[in-house]
Order: sequence, then C-alpha cells, then structure tokens
Amino acid sequence: MSEGSQIREHSLEVGRRVYIETYGCQMNLADTELLLGQFRRCGYEPVRDPAMADVILLNTCAIREHAEERVVGRLGDLYRYKARRPDLQLGIVGCMAQHVRDRLLERLPFVDFVVGPDAYRRLPEVLQESGRDPYIDVRLDRSETYADLEPHREAGVRAWVTIMRGCNKFCTFCVVPFVRGRERSVPAGVVLRQVQQLAEQGFREVVYLGQTVNAYHDGEVDFATLLRRTNEVPGLLRIRFTSPHPADMSEATLEAMATCVKVCPQVHLPVQSGSDHVLHRMARGYTVEQYLRLVEKLRNVRSDMALSTDIIVGFPGETEQDFEATLRLLREVKFDQAFMFQYSARSGTKAARWPETVSPEEKLRRLREVIALQEAIAHERNQAWVGKRVEVLVEGPARKKAGWTAGKTPQFKTCVFPAPQAPVPGSVVTVAVREANSHTLFGELAA
Ligand code: 5AD
Ligand code: SF4
Repeated sequence: MSEGSQIREHSLEVGRRVYIETYGCQMNLADTELLLGQFRRCGYEPVRDPAMADVILLNTCAIREHAEERVVGRLGDLYRYKARRPDLQLGIVGCMAQHVRDRLLERLPFVDFVVGPDAYRRLPEVLQESGRDPYIDVRLDRSETYADLEPHREAGVRAWVTIMRGCNKFCTFCVVPFVRGRERSVPAGVVLRQVQQLAEQGFREVVYLGQTVNAYHDGEVDFATLLRRTNEVPGLLRIRFTSPHPADMSEATLEAMATCVKVCPQVHLPVQSGSDHVLHRMARGYTVEQYLRLVEKLRNVRSDMALSTDIIVGFPGETEQDFEATLRLLREVKFDQAFMFQYSARSGTKAARWPETVSPEEKLRRLREVIALQEAIAHERNQAWVGKRVEVLVEGPARKKAGWTAGKTPQFKTCVFPAPQAPVPGSVVTVAVREANSHTLFGELAA
C-alpha cells in the first residue's frame, strides 16, 4: 500500500483535515483564524502537518514581488503531496490569489482553487462540492466584513481582532486597495461583543487590525469612540492597534489614547519616506513636517510612547538627496523599530507605470544603510530602559533561554527574565531591566 492511501484511510476515519500556511501581515494571520473557524464549522480538523491534510491552503501576500516568489516556490514543494494523493485539494487564497488570478493557474496548473480575500465565507462548502474542477473566486465584495463568523483562535494572552478591511488610500506603490478592495468596518457592537468574549475566555490583550485601522467608522462610532468603549471591557488589560495611517490620526483618537489607561503607549506609524517630494509622488497625504508634528503630539500623549514605522527605499524618482532626507528623519524621530523595504513594482499600481530610476544595486545599498542606522537607533532607544522597572504581561517560556520567561512591556518590547517558578501567562509582573540589545530587554523580577 502506498503511503498516500494509508494517509487517506486514516483521514477517512477521523474526518477531513485542513492545513493552512500563512504569509504576510497580521491581517492575513487573522484571516487564517477566520478560515479555520469556517473549516471547523464544516467538520474539518486543523492540522499542523501538510502530510496529514485533505485540503492545503496557502494564505498569501502580494505586497512585494519577493512575497509572491516565496509562495510559488512553496507550492512547488507542496505539489509532492498532491502527486501522491490526487484527491488532495491544494489552493491559494489571500492577496496574491486576488492579484494574479488566472496567471496563477497558467503557471501552476495543478492548483485546485484560487480564492480572494472577500470569498472565504463559503470556501469549505465549495471545496466539498467542486470536485475536480479548478475553482476561482476573486470577486471583491464592497460590504463583506465576516462580522458574523467566529474565528478559530488558539488560547493565549493576545487576540487579534479585525475591525476594518480594505483601503481607500491608493498610495501609488501599493497593491492593497486592488487586492483587498474598499474600506469597510465591522459593526461596533460586533467588535465589542467579541472583545468581551475574548476577555471572558482569558485573553488579556486585543490588537485591533485594519489596513488603515484608525479610519474605522461605524455610523456614529469612530475609532476614538471604539477605543473608549473597549477600554471599559472588564478583564481586558491592554489595547493595541495596527496600522494607523498618519493622515487619519484625529485629535479625538489622540485624546482617547491619552485618557484610556488600557491603550498601550505604542504606535506603528508608517512614514515610508523622509522626503516631501517622494511622499507627494507616493500620494501619502502628509508632508514630513506634518508627520513630525504628529510624532510630537503622540509623545505628548505619553512621554514613554514607543514608535515604529515602515520605510521604502528606491521608490521611482528617489534621489540621493531624498534618501538622505529619510536618514535624517530616522535620526530625528528615533523610532524604536522600523520595517525597511526596497521598492518593488506591483502591477496595477500607478507607480508601476513609472520608470524605475534606482538600480537594484543602489536600492540594496540604500536598504543596507537605513538598516544599519536604524539598528543603532533601536539599540540606543532600548538602552534607555536599563535601570528602569517595566510592567511585563507574561506570555510564556522564553524561546532562547531555558528557565526564562518572556512577555511584552506596554511599549511592545520583548522582555525576558529568569523565573524558577514561571509566572502564569496573562499575569503582569514588574521586571527590573538590567541589559538591552536592539530587540530585547533582559531583567529580573522586582521584589
Ligand atoms: N514595494 C516595497 N514596499 C512596499 N510596501 C507596500 N508596498 C510596497 C512596494 N510596492 C511596504 C510599505 C507598507 C508595508 C506594509 O509594506 O512600507 O507600509
Ligand atoms: Fe497600501 Fe497606502 Fe492603503 Fe497602506 S494606506 S494599505 S500603503 S494604499
């Protein structure tokens, strides 16, 4: 008997099994939880090993070319399971499915389904019905928020809650508005009920998710109001959100952040470039000066505010002077963390029609330079915590140090400390910080 048919017999005994691999951002991770919820509702069991699965899904990202290449490579690997077991269904969901659609089936004819981010609701049923034909559903739906669906979450300390989907900004480099469609918000009542349930289940922190999360709007309830109402949920200790857009950061939101004790002093605020010329061509909707003013306001909200950002180098038309302006901005703001990328043209976007003026070698040089600068800044920012006490929300054993416990500070910094009697996940302990590098704070439990 072949290995394949053994697996099939086994899986017939226990019901159908689904394996999902997730690429890209937090929103995709949350969508995977949503998909798993749907599959479980239809009797599927989630498994961690593709060899055990009857359905294999790759939940994909299209933000940069590199992300797409990784998925194509991985599909090639996973094809071996299908070669052994032709009844296995292998498919692609998410942003790349939406972005490349039919081209995917041309390039990868063994793929059974290609399903975009607005077509997850009926996916398990469709797979049961569709049999052998490749199934494609990449329709965008202006109103789909999956508000009534129950995601499948692993128990833990932190829960991600998608409060809005899509984006209306159309930054000229970005594929998101094309693959995720227009902005739409989950009704506030649904969000708050979910958070209450999560707190009852033992989650201590929620992270609100949305492509432009602070553009959240449900009738009278804007993002600031949602933060204030969330702050009242009993049992919940911390509230975070990602990613806000600088142009949507209202005074009301800043005020809510200042008054709501559970809202953490940490904001990821993508700036992309430190040059007005580039920001304008990116259609970001703010100038460097406006961004800096916002940084100042956030630091006035809380002096211990941690800030992180995203940077793109090598955007079409970015000169050496523009690039140096980005370096200056990093030196001036001193972000705690930054995610830095080389520009990658995405078909369908406005910038993809412009000539690329920065060579691949030059992009790489600029990338290396910003990374080196930011590494030094992050190190310096973390040194400022040495000698201080921090409140750590315990997550569990530290990954790299046996007998140590790990958790996050309100600033979302990983903090590890030795604890012979490990504190329970979800508890908050005071840690005296003794050392720090650019990624982690090291300390000991304070008396
Ligand atoms: N090329 C490079 N980086 C990009 N990002 C988005 N689109 C592109 C692109 N075409 C980056 C931005 C964004 C982050 C999620 O990914 O910095 O904030
Ligand atoms: Fe993309 Fe700009 Fe929308 Fe962010 S705000 S998802 S960068 S288009």
